[in-house]
Parts: sequence; structure tokens; C-alpha cells
Amino acid sequence: MYVRIVSLAFIAGLLALLPSSAQNAPSGMMGSPGKSASHAAPHSTDPWWKHAVIYEIYPRSFQDSNRDGVGDLNGITRRLDYLRDLGVDAIWIAPIYPSPQVDFGYDISDYQNIDPQYGTLADFDRLVAQAKKRNIRVLMDAVMNHTSDKHPWFIESESSKTNPKRNWYVWRDGRAPGEPPNNWLSLFGHSAWQFSPRTGQYYYHYFYIQQPDLNWRNPQVEAAMFQMLRFWLDRGVAGFRLDAVINLFEDSSLQDEEVLPGTNKFGDPNESTSRQEGLPEVHDVMRRMRSMIDTYPDHRVLIGETYLPSVEELDKWYGGAKHNELQLPMDIQVGFEPKLDANEFRHHINDAETRIDGNQPLFVFDNHDNPRTASRYGDGIHNAAIDKMLATILFATRSTALMYYGDEIEMPTTEPTSKEQVKDPIGITGWPNEKGRDGERTPMQWNSLVAAGFSTNPHTWLPVAPDYKTVNVQMESKDPDSMLNWYKKLIALRRHNPALHEGTMTMLDGANSQVLSWSRTSPNGRVVIVACNFTADPQVISLQGAIGGPAKTANVLAASGGSQGKSFVDLNAISLPPYGSLIAEVK
Ligand code: GLC
Repeated sequence: MYVRIVSLAFIAGLLALLPSSAQNAPSGMMGSPGKSASHAAPHSTDPWWKHAVIYEIYPRSFQDSNRDGVGDLNGITRRLDYLRDLGVDAIWIAPIYPSPQVDFGYDISDYQNIDPQYGTLADFDRLVAQAKKRNIRVLMDAVMNHTSDKHPWFIESESSKTNPKRNWYVWRDGRAPGEPPNNWLSLFGHSAWQFSPRTGQYYYHYFYIQQPDLNWRNPQVEAAMFQMLRFWLDRGVAGFRLDAVINLFEDSSLQDEEVLPGTNKFGDPNESTSRQEGLPEVHDVMRRMRSMIDTYPDHRVLIGETYLPSVEELDKWYGGAKHNELQLPMDIQVGFEPKLDANEFRHHINDAETRIDGNQPLFVFDNHDNPRTASRYGDGIHNAAIDKMLATILFATRSTALMYYGDEIEMPTTEPTSKEQVKDPIGITGWPNEKGRDGERTPMQWNSLVAAGFSTNPHTWLPVAPDYKTVNVQMESKDPDSMLNWYKKLIALRRHNPALHEGTMTMLDGANSQVLSWSRTSPNGRVVIVACNFTADPQVISLQGAIGGPAKTANVLAASGGSQGKSFVDLNAISLPPYGSLIAEVK
């Protein structure tokens, strides 16, 4: 598991013990008058990202078009019809820039080009144009905390203390001969300082040694990064996912981090990270970045990779009540809640409704850095039901939905079984405690043919998961009860049902620790109820009192588990199978 989650999930767990403040409060819907309509919702005047389904593509693993066993841009273009039919509004593509690929693209050596293994700028332009024809927007991954050590800026910076690029990175003397400047650790193991014999100083890297951190205290760095963002905005991208954005600044006094009890997966002492992330200076940069992208038309969006310990911290990344930083910092309180607990989910969803100053929540359960949900929440018996329930939470709450390729077919996490197989370097440094992130990055499973249809080359960069003959797009398209058809149904409801599309949200039955329920109410007063059974036992609940009014029944719009076939439910006795979820419109 990604180490960042382990530590923050721990903090989140502690925070979850605190009392929830405002259960059952109505939503803080934020109106956006005068904004242009989204293709997804002709009747809505909101910016497109407020109702969007955003689909993360890990480009190495989505579709190979040139038989080298690695996915590429033309492969993504070939699959755009699939994404349109799934109901996706935007794709976020993990880094496709030229890179030595130490961190599979998150180590960039040229920000304004495409790595030849993924294609060319012409392929990229074609992808954007083809996606646009299908009303799919393209979001880039902006990796601005660090470059590759092969980036010309770093090569210059390392060359001498007087080089004009020296101050583009974070260089310091050791505190004694052979000793780094302080005790700071890299998230990827061991000291965050690397000695460079050329000048006898150390450079700082929060991630791999090959990913030196840029010095955001130097205004030239900000200028270069904003110019890079403009380059892609001018090419028509709809916005960015800001990688490791909480790490842009570090404490310039370089005081040691506090040492905590125990050791981490790499055998280093546990330490706080308060001097290495979340420094207040970053918010000034976010405000300037937001002003810059707001000069572009069509609601360009900033999404944050914001692993934060609390909703209070999350709210700061929106700019709080000023709404002037990121539109969509990722909320990890919900999707990375450590266990399946209805009370905790209610608490965190409610926080997103009531404690972020009317900003728009962004929920996410999966990405390329963490084991997929079945490995985190599954009990081995009801995994499919649990994943369907989580999808209900993702798509039927008021949140913008961020999903990860393969979730829609319930692709498994397939960890390497020996150190020799590992591709992700943290899995090599940390083996066997930390097996790296290969498990959640395996090739997309399209069909039962060679390499699951991902490539015509059987030698793919990571092995295809062994279950591909049954778990794949082609097979699941034919099965009405498949995960794929559940996703399609939920995404279509979210788009076309006004209450689910743009309705307010109210938590219901707040004392129930087995079943999580809420309602969505459309602008013209139609009410849709949603109920999710968080247990392995059947449950029966009543929502009649919570909803009030004369209605006794609700029409079923979607039901997972054993309740298929019923067209309506009695609001006084709603039956839910183990981990079942139900969406129904009150008559
Ligand atoms: C982010 C990315 C992760 C990468 C790291 C360093 O956390 O999601 O994959 O390794 O940044 O760039």
C-alpha cells in the first residue's frame, strides 16, 4: 500500500473518533448563475466539472496500439467510444511527457512534449480533438513539485554553485561531513537529501532520488511552471490534476522533523512531515494559479492531489468561503476511510456537504497509488456487492466523481509475488513490507484474447491479471448484473435524473449504524432516496418518517444484490440484501 495513505489513513482514523458535528443538515449547494451549460446536462447552468465523472487513465496500461506492450495515446484514442458509452465527461491522463520513467512518468525531463513511447504531440492533438467530438474533456497531470534529475534545468543546477539554475532546486550543505542537512525523510524511503559530489552539497527530494524538488521560493520556478500550464491550456486541455501539490514548499529553516515511535516500511524511524508539506505559502501560489486559469474560457479546472488529515485542511485548498483556489481538491476522508463503517462514511460525507463553505466535493476511491477497493474493503465473500455499494456512494452523492480505469469491471489488485517481478522502485526498496504499486497498474482487461485485448504482444510491461478471461469489458457487457452494467446504470442516472444530477442532498436515518441513507431533491421537488447496507446481513429500514409527506412507496431506479426485479419499495420496510444498495424515486 502507498505509504502516504497509511500514515494519513491513521490520522483520518483518529479524527474519525471525534464527534460528527452536523448530521442531517441540508446540503450547501453552491449556485453558479450565468455559467455555460455542460454537455452532460442541458438543463443545468453549472460549470461542467460540478456534475462530472472523471476517469483516470494510467496510460501505460490502458491500450497499446503499437505492439510494444506499453499503452499509448493512439490506444486511448481508439477507446474513446467505450469511454463515451460508459458516460465519462473527462479523462485525466497520468504523465505522458518525456521521462526516464523511474517513477513511470512522474519524473519529467521535458514538460512540453510527449514521450516517444506514448506517441507525439500530433497524436495528442488528435486525441484531444477526437475526445471533444464525444464531449470528453482531457485533463493533464501537472507534476510541479519536482523534475527528473535528467531535466536540463537540474543538469545545469547541479553543475556549479553559480549556475543561473542553481537556485531552481533546494541545495544545502550537510550539517557535518557525511551528514545530510537534517533528518527529513523521503516518502519513498530513507533520507530526503542526496549528496552531489560536483559541488559538495545536498539536494532535496521528497520522492525518488531521481526526482529533485524544485525551489518554489524562487519566482522563476513559478513563472516557468505557469508558462508550462499555459502551453497545455492553449492546446485545449480542460485543466490539470496537480501532483503532490501539498509538497511544493518546505520549511526554509530546515529544522528537524519530530521523531515518532516505531519504524516505517522502509525501516526508517517514523517522523512527522509538518515541515515538508502543507506550508501556508502554497496557498498564495494556488490563488495565482486559479486566477491564471480563470482567464481561459470554458471552465478550466484544477484538481488537487490533496491527501489531507481533516476537512478543515481540505477547505483551505478551495480557498474556503472565497472559492479562489482549487475547484476540486480530492477529498480522501470518504474514499480512503480505513474501514467500511456506515457512521464514519456518514460523518465524512456530511462534512463534505456542510463544512467546505459550499464548495463542490470531489470523492475518489481508487487511483494508481493505492490497492483497488476490493483489496481495501472486501471481505472475500461479498467483494462485488461491496464494490457496487461504493460505486453508489461515488455516483449518487452530490460529489464530483473521480474513478480509476478498470474499476468499472472490478479489476483486481495483482501484487507481484517476488521482488524480482517488481517494477515500481518503492516495491524494491521496501520488499516485502512495501510491494509497490504495480498491483493496481496492471493492463486494462478488454476481452478474453491475448493480453486481454490490451496489446497484441503477449509480453506486456506488467502482467495481465489472471482473472482476465472472465473479468473483462466484453464479457461484462453481456451480463446485466455485471459491475460494468452497474456503473453504466449509475452514471446514466446521475446524468439524466434531475435529483441525482443536480439535487440537494440530505442525510437520512442518521443514527443507523448499519445502513447509510440519504435523499436528493431536484430543483422542482422530486425526491430520490439512496440506501446502502454496510453489513453482511440483510437489513430492513424505514425512511417514511425521515422523508415525511404522504408518499408510501418509491419507484426503484437501481438496486444491487437480491432486490432486482422489484419495481417499487414500501418506504416503511425497505429490504436490502448484504451490502446491497438501492436508489428509488419517491412517488
Ligand atoms: C504522486 C503520484 C505518484 C508519484 C508521486 C511523485 O503522489 O500520484 O504516483 O509517485 O506523486 O511524483
